Amino acid sequence: MAKKKPNYSELIRGGEIPRHIAIIMDGNGRWARKRLMPRNMGHRAGMSSLKQVVQACDEIGVKVLTVYAFSTENWKRPVDEVDYLMKLLVEFMHKELAELNEKGVRINMLGSPDTLPRDCQTEIEDAVRLTRDNQGMVFNIALNYGSRREILDAVINCSKDIAAGKMATKDLNEEVFSSYLYTGGLPDPDLLIRTAGEMRISNFLLWQIAYTELWVSECPWPDFTRADLCHAIYDYQRRERRFGGLITKSQDEDNA
Ligand code: FPP
Repeated sequence: MAKKKPNYSELIRGGEIPRHIAIIMDGNGRWARKRLMPRNMGHRAGMSSLKQVVQACDEIGVKVLTVYAFSTENWKRPVDEVDYLMKLLVEFMHKELAELNEKGVRINMLGSPDTLPRDCQTEIEDAVRLTRDNQGMVFNIALNYGSRREILDAVINCSKDIAAGKMATKDLNEEVFSSYLYTGGLPDPDLLIRTAGEMRISNFLLWQIAYTELWVSECPWPDFTRADLCHAIYDYQRRERRFGGLITKSQDEDNA
């Protein structure tokens, strides 16, 4: 008889909820191939998982959710797949924006909008504008995003501010530099989830994840559910975060 899965939704109650969760939504293509379907059907199924996970994070009390929707490297994919992903984003906004706004979710885009199709840019701009003053969960969509590009942009903007006399070099430190990143003002991710089993970071939030807990699941993104999210949070709650220091005596006692 199959072993019953623990009820992670219940088990995480009362424990520390990660303030910021970042997700690399991988495995859409493999999910589709296994079902003899076109890759794009995997992306469509992935959109349904995304909807569930955004809702779950909001309900659980996560303050910031960042998802990797399209990387600067994803332009190398066939044109029809790129077009489909852009169309899905527009569709996602059409379907979900009103409800997300009602829930007080603030939508942000991480990445460069300039090379995105016009309708996609408009959709994102509208969503960001509409939700700008919302006080609920921040939902970052990394789109045409690359972390090296983000760091380079931050270096360029810091240099410009120094050259213009707006900042002195001696005042540049890690905190100030972080404020120049697309995620400026937000806490670093506490937990990074990657689906479909790959053990790599793929140019995602390289600066921000210095001390983030990593959780990799074999499950392809279209099969990822609220229960899997809660499983990741459950495991996170059992990690010992030391940030390079030593475990404190009280933590030691808690873990005994
Ligand atoms: C990686 O799977 C996934 C992507 C490159 C796109 C992620 C997009 C979605 C989840 C669709 C919904 C998103 C929005 C914002 C509406 P892959 O295609 O690399 O999978 P594979 O490694 O199995 O081929």
